Amino acid sequence: MRQLRVELGARSYPIYIGEKLFKTVDLQSLISGKQVMIVTNETVAPLYLDALKRQLPDLQVDEVILPDGESFKTLENLNSIFDALLQMRHNRTTTLIALGGGVVGDMTGFAAASYQRGVDFIQIPTTLLSQVDSSVGGKTGVNHPLGKNMIGAFYQPKAVLADTSILRSLPARELAAGLAEVIKYGFIYDEAFLSWIEANIDALNACDSKALAEAVYRSCEIKAEVVAQDEREGGIRAILNLGHTFGHAIETDQGYGTWLHGEAVGAGMWMAADLSNRIGWVSDDELLRVEAVLKAAHLPCKPPASMSPARFRELMSVDKKVLNGKIRLVLLKQLGEAIVTEDFASELLDQTLEANYTVEPAVG
Ligand code: NAD
Ligand code: GLY
Repeated sequence: MRQLRVELGARSYPIYIGEKLFKTVDLQSLISGKQVMIVTNETVAPLYLDALKRQLPDLQVDEVILPDGESFKTLENLNSIFDALLQMRHNRTTTLIALGGGVVGDMTGFAAASYQRGVDFIQIPTTLLSQVDSSVGGKTGVNHPLGKNMIGAFYQPKAVLADTSILRSLPARELAAGLAEVIKYGFIYDEAFLSWIEANIDALNACDSKALAEAVYRSCEIKAEVVAQDEREGGIRAILNLGHTFGHAIETDQGYGTWLHGEAVGAGMWMAADLSNRIGWVSDDELLRVEAVLKAAHLPCKPPASMSPARFRELMSVDKKVLNGKIRLVLLKQLGEAIVTEDFASELLDQTLEANYTVEPAVG
């Protein structure tokens, strides 16, 4: 088992990474009160809920089992967590445990941030994406029909347990979606890590536990470093959103859950690299490298052909990074170095948005 720490003063917390963590981490010792509410979903519950409950023998343990899917990451479903907490009389010393992927983690975190004005919570992420990204850093929230993650709070967990043995039950498509965020860290921060990913992509695709543990560790290390510098995204933290402005537009256009978040981010990262290339930053060879590593990870690297530039612009205009009506994007100066900027020619963005667009032929 390896351990990292997110350094945020009084709100610092550990991330435990390794196999079979229920055996190596004393979960009860991380909980200060006597009550626990486990939040999970109908897919993960049959797989891991009982094993988790066995780690908490001395506490009042209750559970909420949410429907599975991004389309259920809503205020209505969030309310079912509050209903359960109130029905089972959980007080301000309760601890919420998120057992699931990013959807469960984001919703549980937001519930913890707002239940009785804030209670403790622990993240037990069960997808690769949630282990390398969403469980760390304290972004929590739900979707709104008009925009993804538009309602939420910054609220840090007390601890994160990233158990790589749990990833063995993950469908291949979900593993690939998680790899998108792993690759992201190489693109934005660490070209040497990108080379390591390229060299180990077959092992990662095959869910090799040693390779996955290394990928989770380095990804969390980079995320922890960035979040420690800029918890509330006043500056550098925004680089973690490479590809996300494009990706969120794809997710919203296609309907939440049609494209997985990681898949949309994969295509979005290619679009960001393509625009960076048009500006003259990322070289042609680097752009080919971006495309190759995304393909090797079985990720889409182009947006849906049906999405028009106008539709992209409409959806991108509600992004949280938009400032005074100008679209700001995370772009790449080179592989391993990202910047956040609004300073690019609008025509170049149009060219990127048009790059994969196929106009529907007129009927008749
Ligand atoms: P998800 O939570 O929907 O999980 C993906 C699927 O895998 C679900 O069907 C889930 O039930 C299933 N699953 C989970 N663990 C499993 C396991 N071990 N075995 C078998 N099946 C399992 O999706 P995700 O990719 O984990 O997370 C995506 C969400 O995370 C999005 O809502 C996105 O906005 C959010 N996100 C948040 C942050 C953040 O900083 N808070 C960062 C990135 C993404
Ligand atoms: N996933 C982006 C962030 O946590 O800031």
